[in-house]
Amino acid sequence: MSTRTQRIAVIPGDGIGLEVARAGVAVLEAAAAAHDLALDFAWFDLGADKYLREGVTLPDAVFESLRDDFDAIYLGALGDPRVPDLQHAKDILLGLRFRLDLYVNLRPVTLLHPELTPLKGKTPADLNFVIFRENTEGLYAGVGGRFKRGTPDEIAITEMVSTFKGVDRILRAAFDHAVRHGLSRVCMADKSNAIPHAHGLWRERFTAVAAEYPTIEARHLYADVLAMELVRAPEDFDVIVTSNLMGDVLSDLGAQLVGGLGLAPSANLHPGRHGLFEPVHGSAPPLAGKDVANPLAMILTGAQLLSWLGHTAAGAAIDAAVSRVLVRGETTADLGGSLGTQACAEAVIRQLVG
Ligand SMILES: NC(=O)c1ccc[n+]([C@@H]2O[C@H](COP(=O)([O-])OP(=O)(O)OC[C@H]3O[C@@H](n4cnc5c(N)ncnc54)[C@H](O)[C@@H]3O)[C@@H](O)[C@H]2O)c1
Repeated sequence: MSTRTQRIAVIPGDGIGLEVARAGVAVLEAAAAAHDLALDFAWFDLGADKYLREGVTLPDAVFESLRDDFDAIYLGALGDPRVPDLQHAKDILLGLRFRLDLYVNLRPVTLLHPELTPLKGKTPADLNFVIFRENTEGLYAGVGGRFKRGTPDEIAITEMVSTFKGVDRILRAAFDHAVRHGLSRVCMADKSNAIPHAHGLWRERFTAVAAEYPTIEARHLYADVLAMELVRAPEDFDVIVTSNLMGDVLSDLGAQLVGGLGLAPSANLHPGRHGLFEPVHGSAPPLAGKDVANPLAMILTGAQLLSWLGHTAAGAAIDAAVSRVLVRGETTADLGGSLGTQACAEAVIRQLVG
């Protein structure tokens, strides 16, 4: 038994977030029981319903509690057509990412079943890499403005922000990950040919940081070339590190190479401090409330969470259980199966404890 109970804040959020969160927590509870872990879950009612009901998104006291009282945050999805400007999602999700300074967006791309990849001839041995996406800067820093709005003279400007500190720390996180996991290759992707200032800094820091990790093979590719290479030869990659926008796009490409959004987990981390774990997919409003959403991305995200809390064996056991339900075809309709969300989670639990 762990010496201390680890506390996990659960934010189901909106749409299918509620259903996949219920499924994900059920699997985490089963894993905790099987591996003798002391985990405590606290559910947070944050999302569109609360915003529409009470006009609040992420109150300061709630933010402070999420920051100070929990070992990890497990989030479903945010986004609701009744809130067209997505104000609540910006405050909650982007608010947590920025206010907790979660500068690493870690997105594993792992083929769990050979039939899930659209790439001819590629096997699970060929598709197993991680993407480190910078999560607090770039074009997503929110710097810019709109002038003469709604007129033919309108000007819209978004600034790309890259700082020495921000670039340096995500590069180091990627190299450290490679060292810790016995991986030999780190590839950095940018557009320094077309974006010489912001991405020039990325090139310079990559060369400097790579020199500190002589055992790791450091490779640079332009992001558009990397997109082609990921389809042509995904086996050439172990760790990819890139900026916010490039990482957003490349990780969706990666997700599709291994079965789609229903299987794509992600973590937002400030190493050593805070971790927020969420599937890559959104709230899929048309699927909400129908028990049809695929819970496996949320479940695999739970495995990431456990590993981050130090329970690598329990995390690996969840990954293995998910692989087995995929082999058995015990999946939701998006992967060709006939199970509902909760039944799919129960199938994972049977594999986990069986
Ligand atoms: N991190 C997040 O919370 C997050 C991420 C992306 C989008 N969003 C929000 O979610 C809402 C919907 O966005 P969207 O439609 O562009 O993206 P989405 O990920 O919700 O859906 C994209 C497509 O994938 C399908 N899909 C997604 N998750 C699935 C699952 N678990 N099982 C089966 N099918 C699944 C959907 O049905 C849809 O066809 C928007 O409000 C958007 O802003 C939130």
